Amino acid sequence: FPSEKIRNFSIIAHIDHGKSTLADRLMELTGTIKKGHGQPQYLDKLQVERERGITVKAQTATMFYENKVKDEEASGFLLNLIDTPGHVDFSYEVSRSLSACQGALLVVDAAQGVQAQTVANFYLAFESNLTIVPVINKIDQPTADPDRVKAQLKSMFDLSPDDVLLVSAKTGLGLEYVLPAVIERIPPPPGISDSPLRMLLFDSFFNEYKGVICYVSVVDGMLSKGDKVSFAASGMRTTKEARIGDTIYRTKTTVEPLPGFKPVRHMVFSGVYPADGSGFEALSHALEKLTCNDASVSVAKETSTALGMGFRCGFLGLLHMDVFHQRLEQEYGTQVISTIPTVPYTFEYSDGSKLKVQNPASLPSNPKYRVIASWEPTVIATIILPSEYVGAVINLCADRRGQQLEYTFIDAQRVFLKYQLPLREIVVDFYDELKSVTSGYASFDYEDAEYQTSDLVKLDILLNGQAVDALATIVHKQKAYRVGKELVEKLKSYIERQMFEVMIQASIGSKIIARDTISAMRKNVLAKCYGGDITRKKKLLEKQKEGKKRMKRVGSVDIPHEAFQQILKVS
Ligand code: GTP
Repeated sequence: FPSEKIRNFSIIAHIDHGKSTLADRLMELTGTIKKGHGQPQYLDKLQVERERGITVKAQTATMFYENKVKDEEASGFLLNLIDTPGHVDFSYEVSRSLSACQGALLVVDAAQGVQAQTVANFYLAFESNLTIVPVINKIDQPTADPDRVKAQLKSMFDLSPDDVLLVSAKTGLGLEYVLPAVIERIPPPPGISDSPLRMLLFDSFFNEYKGVICYVSVVDGMLSKGDKVSFAASGMRTTKEARIGDTIYRTKTTVEPLPGFKPVRHMVFSGVYPADGSGFEALSHALEKLTCNDASVSVAKETSTALGMGFRCGFLGLLHMDVFHQRLEQEYGTQVISTIPTVPYTFEYSDGSKLKVQNPASLPSNPKYRVIASWEPTVIATIILPSEYVGAVINLCADRRGQQLEYTFIDAQRVFLKYQLPLREIVVDFYDELKSVTSGYASFDYEDAEYQTSDLVKLDILLNGQAVDALATIVHKQKAYRVGKELVEKLKSYIERQMFEVMIQASIGSKIIARDTISAMRKNVLAKCYGGDITRKKKLLEKQKEGKKRMKRVGSVDIPHEAFQQILKVS
């Protein structure tokens, strides 16, 4: 295909505005997939994506299209479509995919209008110099108000109402104008075809049968079947070596490597341990396989006194972490215990030394030198919401130590807020809270911002006087008492009564800030059937053994693994 017959484009949108449905329709229209093939959302391939109805990994499809409207005698066009994830955690994936494109369809729901990720995705595309084709989708809905959405697109992004396409990916209305607009408005790839070959590796995944599969965009030159290629930065035998952003060139030629991508920034860290002690090897194997498919996760071995041998994993965000855990279980059958997620902190001591902390347990509880400063990462959050909820959201942001940067009206009923917030405050349940105080009408997105100084302390949890490393957390001093109290209460509700009294304490350094006790159990499990029915006794013992498997013994106290997970919710 000559490059003037090629269009590389992406579909970007706020979550649920219909990207994947639109992608499916376009593929049907071009005969790439059969109509009504029975498997909705062809490009959403992972089981977790189907279950959650979200796109996690960008997917690519190549379509052939005869553009009969414009170019009668002309041959077909080659259209490369990249479907991208909509959620904030995956914006890194979005920006990588965009680098392979010259244009993007910006899809907006006709009833919901511009939302937080519409804004974020628009700017990602705009900064990559892409031609933006605005598409208002779901015009079949009774509550659709395309004129209002057109006005929002004009006021927010200066997109002309005349350029907006109106479609329904569901009924097919207006779809025939989408691909002609792609061909007319989006420029062909700019590369020079008679220059030496340069390709940008923008994504890769691991296929059980075929091995590593790379997605590349040909930046310069031509590639033919049978050509031998080399990688500028690595040798490439595994996906780990298939470094995203690497330049691929024809073997034995010399080329200037392409700029590549900025490295991934891990925002959330958590320990991942096998739920039963024996599963370390299996977990290790599963992690290796899974990171082949998701190279944006970092993995390092660590050991915990409470949980044994495991790994410290770094994620792009909390949803990314959840999805990763779900994939570990579903695709590899591994049961894991994950520890309290933490963001990366930096501490400075009076001797001038600095400590970067990805695991709260690694921060000394009683350090030799005094902490003179500590820093935590922040984000710039964008929130779009109906104006009647503004008060509640401002309160929520204040409670989360946020600082207001902007407050504007998008139109008569909708407000655009910008806040700088500590990442720690939004990592766990901010989005849930936001949805609950706005009855689900607010949308939210964030981007990394700089570290800021903060008054941070380590909070230890002790069981019968012994600190449980996997339950340690780092909190803002002002919140330490509240969090300590809540952690103790939560733990009390999860730990079953033992044969002896269990004391639960929260401490900062050597100071106890909260405590409670679980009184001793009076009878053991067999007490009531001594001398009784032997099968019943056996059954009880079995049951007890089953329960034990899912416990972690800390000192002499058994902690059910739900406790480790439930405790995540306290912040
Ligand atoms: P993510 O991949 O999670 O970011 O979502 P998405 O933007 O790909 O949205 P998706 O295509 O999964 O569509 C979300 C929901 O909207 C689905 O239930 C679709 O059936 C529905 N939907 C998509 N297009 C239309 C449309 O034109 N009209 C109506 N009424 N519903 C639509």
